[in-house]
Amino acid sequence: MMETKIWSADELPAAVRAIKRGALVAFPTETVYGLGADAFNEQAVGKVYAAKGRPSDNPLIVHIADANQIDRFAQRNAWADALIEAFWPGPLTMILPVKTGVLSSVVTGGLDTVAIRMPDNDLTRSLIREADTPIVGPSANTSGRPSPTIAQHVYHDLHGKISGILDGGSTRIGVESTVIDLSTDQPTVLRPGKITPEDLEAVLKTSVEAGQHAVKADEVPKAPGMKYRHYAPDKDVFMVEREDWTQAIIWAQSQLSPVGLMLTNDLILEHQLAGMDFVWSLGPDADSAAAKLFAGLRYFDGQADVQTILVARMPETSRNAAYNNRLNKAAGSHFVTELFDD
Ligand code: TXA
Ligand code: MG
Repeated sequence: MMETKIWSADELPAAVRAIKRGALVAFPTETVYGLGADAFNEQAVGKVYAAKGRPSDNPLIVHIADANQIDRFAQRNAWADALIEAFWPGPLTMILPVKTGVLSSVVTGGLDTVAIRMPDNDLTRSLIREADTPIVGPSANTSGRPSPTIAQHVYHDLHGKISGILDGGSTRIGVESTVIDLSTDQPTVLRPGKITPEDLEAVLKTSVEAGQHAVKADEVPKAPGMKYRHYAPDKDVFMVEREDWTQAIIWAQSQLSPVGLMLTNDLILEHQLAGMDFVWSLGPDADSAAAKLFAGLRYFDGQADVQTILVARMPETSRNAAYNNRLNKAAGSHFVTELFDD
């Protein structure tokens, strides 16, 4: 097994050298940590799939530091130019037609399009600039596990399999970027994120389809990643609507083993759970909940006696769609009400 280093910002040159020699380096972004490799080194990209245990038909996002890096491997259009101006660097991934014969099909999963994003993280953009190449980056978790929001999550999943982790502290947003497909005649959101369809419509001045839908195993999905189970700890996760917490807490207290509870501060106060064991605060609001969701799932995953985790669902607004989407995947669409006797 190789030794996995954790590099601080002033050790950036070591991370740059690792990328240049085709090794794997995890990097921070404003959303989640990514698992980086030189996008133009096919062998290095292949190692990303192996380290994550990721199916090879699930393509990778290419991370860039300057918008003109796109022209080498993808076709820009007017929509892309407008969104770059409005949202980059930031939590938005664009799907564009790929130029033939430049990028390995290992990056694109054999599709004729490619996913591209410019992360809002100075350290990572320096890594891309100094390595002088775009860097592929799926989330830096073992496939199927919650995405990493601190360097230690990456270390837990991938130590011994990657050269190093560039430590940028905890990520600000906590759920992955919005993915928008700009390769067809209607812009379509394939994965909800911090940037909503309404935000995108305001810039594009055209309607944006919110194309997120559950994809069955035998369907060919538009974003191949949508068909796989995601963000799932090795525990039973159930979603809890606001009005179901009283009953949910009674259920939890009647169990023989402790039940993990993840909820916002107002609910913690309302149900007098402050300072109790097995309670994970999601902070004051939906934004903090998104930032703390994956860390909370991993926290309870690490507690051997916890078998069940109950997590607050947020009101169904467009702003909250990314949080509810990731929670729904972690919970396999299950609600706590399934546990109640009626
Ligand atoms: O916030 C993020 O986007 C993070 C950070 C590290 O940048 N990255 C990330 O990558 O979430 P990943 O690989 O976990 O998710 C990429 C998603 C997958 O659902 C994948 O199927 C989809 O984007 N995707 C990639 N290329 C695509 C393409 N050409 N067409 C449609 N979907 C694509
Ligand atoms: Mg991922």
